Amino acid sequence: MIATSPLLDVRDLTVFFDAGDGRKIHAVSGISFVVEEGEVLGLVGESGCGKSSIARALLQLPRPAAGRVVFEGVDWTRASCRRLRRLRPRLQMIFQDSVSALNPRRRIGDAIAAPLVIMKAGSPKERARRVLKAMHDVGLPEACQRQLPSVLSGGQCQRAQIARSLIARPKMLICDEPVSSLDVSVRAQILNLLEDLRRRYKLAMLFISHDLAVVKNISDRVAVMYLGRLCEVAPAEELYRAPRHPYSRALLEAAAQVDTRQPAAPLSLVPGELPSPADPPKGCRFHARCPVAEKQCSTTDPRLEEIGSGHVVACHFPL
Ligand SMILES: Nc1ncnc2c1ncn2[C@@H]1O[C@H](COP(=O)(O)OP(=O)(O)O)[C@@H](O)[C@H]1O
Ligand SMILES: [Mg+2]
Repeated sequence: MIATSPLLDVRDLTVFFDAGDGRKIHAVSGISFVVEEGEVLGLVGESGCGKSSIARALLQLPRPAAGRVVFEGVDWTRASCRRLRRLRPRLQMIFQDSVSALNPRRRIGDAIAAPLVIMKAGSPKERARRVLKAMHDVGLPEACQRQLPSVLSGGQCQRAQIARSLIARPKMLICDEPVSSLDVSVRAQILNLLEDLRRRYKLAMLFISHDLAVVKNISDRVAVMYLGRLCEVAPAEELYRAPRHPYSRALLEAAAQVDTRQPAAPLSLVPGELPSPADPPKGCRFHARCPVAEKQCSTTDPRLEEIGSGHVVACHFPL
């Protein structure tokens, strides 16, 4: 039997930013994960923990400080800028702010066609046909094709962004808080659309949200992140039923306390504050807020260890 390699294989991904005072912001610190063909991996954690930095580092925007990103067998960290331009339509990103993700002076139809133009794919006629098909797939009326983003609603802009991401028929989407800036009433529609497209096109996704409730239904597995590190990765059902990392449990408890009619409530309900990523704590990065921390936790960084089938946790004292 030939072992197949995962669709996306991320090893030791590391991202720093300049804090402006000579220090380095440790946004992403040596994170590894895989996404299989057709799989949806949810990525959750408090605001500022490094989720968007991971998303952008996958696309080499900017290039990560260290680590490897292998997608469809190609190491993107070694690809030239020119090659990356051609590769990126294969791994599309959907951003939180759908309105500003679209060029205000570009008609919706042209925005949706852009990845095909970059890839030099198809004749103008073929492109026009695919634009209409993509608009139909995401539930955008044909009339939107010649309109500018400013006349569309937030939900329609998000649908246009999704159509643009899908037009080059990628195998994977990176969804970075795709519904966080939408009205609650529109949110469920866009989530349903993404689930539907995922099934129809067997799309893999990295689905990022600060809100555990948002990733719950769509994810096959969920990765929990804290201050630039992964705490726990588990099959979704298992993570929600029996989280093993104290931070995962705290997040779930905080989410449970929140009135379900306000699904966007912040995760600041977890006691304590997120330490500065310019000066991350020694040992386990969560130890100062952890209810079960012992001395060892402040000195020794726990490694991600397998504690069950497909379930890894980075904790000296998993629950
Ligand atoms: N362009 C940037 N310059 C400086 N610091 C940044 C930049 N982008 C992100 N950061 C910092 O990196 C950390 C991780 O940010 P981010 O990846 O946006 O987190 P999340 O998406 O989880 O909210 C935060 O401390 C943030 O302030
Ligand atoms: Mg973000």
